[in-house]
Amino acid sequence: MILGIETSCDETAAAVVTDDGRVLSSIVSSQAELHARYGGVVPEVASRRHLDLVAPVVREALESAGTSLDRIERVAVTQGPGLVGALLVGLSAAKALAWARRLPLVPMDHLEGHVATLYLGRDPLEPPFLCLLASGGHTLLLAVSEHGRSERLGTTLDDAAGEAFDKGARLLGLGYPGGAAIDRIAREGDPAAFQFPVARVAGLDFSFSGLKTALLYAVRELGEEEAERRKADLAASYQRAIVRALTQRVREASLVTGLDRLAVVGGVAANSALRSALPDARFAPLDLCTDNAAMIASGARYVDALPYPRYLALDAYASLA
Ligand code: KG4
Ligand code: ZN
Repeated sequence: MILGIETSCDETAAAVVTDDGRVLSSIVSSQAELHARYGGVVPEVASRRHLDLVAPVVREALESAGTSLDRIERVAVTQGPGLVGALLVGLSAAKALAWARRLPLVPMDHLEGHVATLYLGRDPLEPPFLCLLASGGHTLLLAVSEHGRSERLGTTLDDAAGEAFDKGARLLGLGYPGGAAIDRIAREGDPAAFQFPVARVAGLDFSFSGLKTALLYAVRELGEEEAERRKADLAASYQRAIVRALTQRVREASLVTGLDRLAVVGGVAANSALRSALPDARFAPLDLCTDNAAMIASGARYVDALPYPRYLALDAYASLA
């Protein structure tokens, strides 16, 4: 059994996963409400909250898996990328637990973790496949050649797809984080009501900053009252532009690489319009789209563990290598 710990952003998460990919427990304590009043994640606030939550969340993960530390064989933890202060809380907790029990520790890349969501459960996806990772922090197109190994084909030049959802939601007064709120209200709107541009950039990269500006202008032009009245149409049209940008690039990447099996992971994979726009793709299960520790424990099955006590000097890293 593997104990996974994830604290890279504003979710404190712990999970117990078996070597054959069964999720025995996955506990996620979201700080979203805490950060909502600031309209985004405040790093220092996140770190302090992780400190309060990491021990109880680990305890709950062990309990709800019906197990105890005595039966854990490896500890897996997110090393980066993410907020360094937040990452350090999880990393220190993982080191302490592993050290106390003389267990090996697996430092995990958060993005590889998202991909490893696809390897969980009864019907795991086997590489090779093309993977779209769309979250609040990243938008990546990956050619996954084997477990734990992928080549980066494209990334965003500015905002991440989830960030575009969040900024759009803020403009529409839907709160933070706003992806799920846009998804919900868009169901009552007309996606063809407004024409928002899909940015054309070279290669297989993405760009979302122009889209957010287009929404800002549309809202200004309508005026406060009218924008409020047409909120559902605005949300639906905005969502359609993001979904189009993502699906176009996925299709192009599929042609370029010859990889015809598609997968989508990360918070934006929860989006219902994206799910219906890519009916043949494998999506991460809904409860494992946003940050969690089951994906970290899953990915750890394909990475060499560091034996006790070689991991004690490990450091967190903030950004993509
Ligand atoms: O993967 P994740 O939890 O965090 C990062 O690693 O960044 O993704 C969070 C992002 C947020 O931007 C949130 O608005 C977005 O995923 N999100 C959604 C939906 N649910 C979450 N975006 C669109 N539609 C959704 N249903
Ligand atoms: Zn994530």
